[in-house]
Amino acid sequence: MSRTVVRGGLLVTAADEIPADVLVEDGTVAALAAPDSSAAAAWTADRVIDATGKYVVPGGVDAHTHFELPFGGTASSDTFATGTVAAAWGGTTTVVDFAVQPRGGALREGLDAWHAKADGQCAIDYAFHMILSDVNASTLKEMDLLVSEGCTSFKLFMAYPGVFYSDDGQILRAMQRAAGNGGLVMMHAENGIAIDVLVEQALAAGRTAPRYHGEVRRALLEAEATHRAIALARVAGSPLYVVHVSAQEAVAELAAARDLGLPVFGETCPQYLFLDVGRLDGPGFEGAKYVCSTPLRPREHQTALWRALRTDDLQVVSTDHCPFCFAGQKELGRGDFSRIPNGLPGVEHRMDLLHQAVVEGRISRRRWIELACAAPARMFGLAPRKGTIAPGSDADIVVYDPHARQTLSAATHHMNVDHSVYEGMEITGRVETVLSRGEVVLDRGTFTGRAGHGRHIARSTCQYL
Ligand code: URP
Ligand code: ZN
Ligand code: ZN
Ligand code: ZN
Repeated sequence: MSRTVVRGGLLVTAADEIPADVLVEDGTVAALAAPDSSAAAAWTADRVIDATGKYVVPGGVDAHTHFELPFGGTASSDTFATGTVAAAWGGTTTVVDFAVQPRGGALREGLDAWHAKADGQCAIDYAFHMILSDVNASTLKEMDLLVSEGCTSFKLFMAYPGVFYSDDGQILRAMQRAAGNGGLVMMHAENGIAIDVLVEQALAAGRTAPRYHGEVRRALLEAEATHRAIALARVAGSPLYVVHVSAQEAVAELAAARDLGLPVFGETCPQYLFLDVGRLDGPGFEGAKYVCSTPLRPREHQTALWRALRTDDLQVVSTDHCPFCFAGQKELGRGDFSRIPNGLPGVEHRMDLLHQAVVEGRISRRRWIELACAAPARMFGLAPRKGTIAPGSDADIVVYDPHARQTLSAATHHMNVDHSVYEGMEITGRVETVLSRGEVVLDRGTFTGRAGHGRHIARSTCQYL
């Protein structure tokens, strides 16, 4: 039996902040005890990690990543190998990535393909959601099977006609199925039919630069789709989780639904909290680095998102990590913004960016852990193993130095992408040491993990009301 003790830190979970020592036995948390207590003094250990003056927090759960995602004629640039190492550097110890149903193919094919990409490659634990790109009778049946295999959530798209798009009838059927099998429907809520008209008109008028990506993907069309998704979920009697919420009008729809007591949930991402639409107007073609959907919005939307994170109208912060290099990938859209592959890198920086929000007084320390660890673990059937530090939970533990200073940069990050959307940003706080199921994968600034340590986690269904 291997035993590790993390001593002297301030244990911060979504529920508590208490000085506590943590005993880890064979990959799980065995006990917590007050520092200097007789219980803690009696523990023997192979390894003692000194966390004096540091926070001891659960490993982050990033419920929205895209490693090796084929998109726009290319594929996102992080593999499961590189992406999970970057996640570990940033204190994230579980990712939930999106397997994709091939259009005209089976869910099984998509899920098998994603297992093949990930198995044996990951430095930290991982799980899968399923993207439904073709809802039909056999797809609907397969949803039950996937739920029984631990792939318990399904992403549908109201955007991207001809690619991932589902119409309202397909969405309603998938939601009805999820209502019956305990699955969770995740929605990309943008009116893609209307957006495609605006894209066509913009291009015809010669408006081809990245900034027009932000103009055609109107906030109103995010809000309209969010409203429609909520109505469909209500009719189906299913819970709903809206991904990458960026528009304040969409937040208002979620808040109204929650005020009615509906099981409706929302996620936002660091890019929407820290970056605004002005980035799309950068010099030359630089704006392409900031092309993602939903798009970055004007400043006032950020204020609404931060508020919603405090009031629990939004419950989760995930990254939607979907990196494309500027050279050779983002550049595919020179002369036509609609050909810029959509997505931003970020899996490494979520815990730090949210800690910066703690430093700036936007959220509390416990809310930081709720949004980044506990809520995503609960919402996606990973609790109680993930998202907290408690007897019986996996020993996914981060020793976090709240006073260290760092500057985010492509020169120092570990994501496989040639730029940083946070280049030059100064952060107070830094991940010092990371345990994944009791194994030290980051040791005071040295990566000590390995590909293949990370395991697939079969997720359970949960109660959403
Ligand atoms: O721009 C984005 N978000 N790319 C990833 C795919 C998606 O819609 O989440
Ligand atoms: Zn999406
Ligand atoms: Zn995504
Ligand atoms: Zn291992």
